[in-house]
Amino acid sequence: MPRLSMLPTLVREVFGTRDFPREPEPALVMEDKEQVAAYAEAGRIDGVMSAAYLFQTSRIIPTIYGKKKILDLGCGPATQLAQLAEFLPDTSFTGIDLSEEMISDAKQYVSKKNLQNVDFILGDITKLQMLDAQSFDGVISTMALHHLPSYDDLHRCFEEIKRVLKPGGVLYLTDFGRLKSLQSVLFFAYQNKAYQPHSFSLDYERSLRAAFLPSEFNKLLGVFSGNVKAYSTFGIPILVILKTPDIEIPKALISQLREEKRKLPTKYQRELNDIRLFFGLSGLKNDLF
Ligand SMILES: C[S@@+](CC[C@H](N)C(=O)[O-])C[C@H]1O[C@@H](n2cnc3c(N)ncnc32)[C@H](O)[C@@H]1O
Repeated sequence: MPRLSMLPTLVREVFGTRDFPREPEPALVMEDKEQVAAYAEAGRIDGVMSAAYLFQTSRIIPTIYGKKKILDLGCGPATQLAQLAEFLPDTSFTGIDLSEEMISDAKQYVSKKNLQNVDFILGDITKLQMLDAQSFDGVISTMALHHLPSYDDLHRCFEEIKRVLKPGGVLYLTDFGRLKSLQSVLFFAYQNKAYQPHSFSLDYERSLRAAFLPSEFNKLLGVFSGNVKAYSTFGIPILVILKTPDIEIPKALISQLREEKRKLPTKYQRELNDIRLFFGLSGLKNDLF
């Protein structure tokens, strides 16, 4: 996210009018082998999504810290999930995804990392009947909700989250927010095209076209009790977070997070700083870096 080149997008998004409708993802579930591989690769080690994953980890840890059982909706190749499971070995995580290809990739990834605190279910995040009511201390989801075909499916998913969460359970949902202009979508989808496979850029473009409006997420907050708050990146609501309040975490975990940041290539450290800045300007407090 280089800052100066983002200026025209900022102006367009703040002062412009909406110029394209929502287009649900053509492939709702990510089953294509090449697409799954490109997506998984983008997040691993020094991939183009590594800054975004570390940012989400730094925000999810203080949301779920100390909780025993966490459900991850639309876990995909488990890049995010595995990073959280490494940071929080005393928490057990269940990832659910409707794509067999993703679940198979995810299983291989966590077994290669020798993580004992993660398991997986093949299933639909709008129909969680295989899970008991009030069986999880927390629910998380990263970059998956825009795959749902309609607002009604998103509503169904939120009702299911409420059902499987224990009273007082914690919540962290994050996804893309719908931009006003198609030009902004193309700017973000292709800005790193030199570093990422074309199928990843295309997937990014489709995701941004399929994103729900921040106002739609806000409307659905009513499903949960009053302690879930919504945040989005300042000016350009490309990312949205719905979360319960932070819990205090040990200093050692904060040092570990900072160490992970230092390991990122410089351009991704800069990107991580930009995401932090844009959420900070929107009022998201308690930045751990
Ligand atoms: C873009 S990936 C995000 C993966 C992961 N959470 C991350 O942050 O990298 C979205 C995932 O949602 C899954 N998905 C889409 N619709 C779903 C549904 N109805 N139920 C379960 N998973 C679904 C897709 O198969 C895909 O793996």
